[in-house]
Amino acid sequence: APLAVNDGDMRLADGGATNQGRVEIFYRGQWGTVCDNLWDLTDASVVCRALGFENATQALGRAAFGQGSGPIMLDEVQCTGTEASLADCKSLGWLKSNCRHERDAGVVCTNETRSTHTL
Ligand SMILES: *[C@@H]1O[C@H](CO)[C@@H](O)[C@H](O)[C@H]1NC(C)=O
Ligand SMILES: *[C@@H]1O[C@H](CO)[C@@H](O)[C@H](O)[C@H]1NC(C)=O
Repeated sequence: APLAVNDGDMRLADGGATNQGRVEIFYRGQWGTVCDNLWDLTDASVVCRALGFENATQALGRAAFGQGSGPIMLDEVQCTGTEASLADCKSLGWLKSNCRHERDAGVVCTNETRSTHTL
């Protein structure tokens, strides 16, 4: 059976490798992106760990992996680093951003995966 997708689930798009890409997050039936305001390595590490990587090595903005489509789901994300999803971090809240896709956030994760996950 296909895996269910839940609000707050994340994926990396258009990175050309499994460990990097534009951050996309699922909310209410669709995938969208994250604005790069306040985007930093701590926020990126939450994405990388949720996807089974050890950590983040880069937190990129300005659509470094190209502009996404769909809504900009989150903006001014400020994680402490222990959250399971960006959805659990402080932010403006769902769909409150007035950013454009030229500000889509991206990440580069370490290549080392965590043994409890399969990719
Ligand atoms: C993740 O990488 C950041 C930046 O290099 C580092 O400060 C932090 O300690 C790392 N965290 C872990 C759990 O390795
Ligand atoms: C991860 O692996 C890719 C392909 O082997 C390599 O190009 C990249 O530099 C590696 N990234 C890190 C953070 O080690």
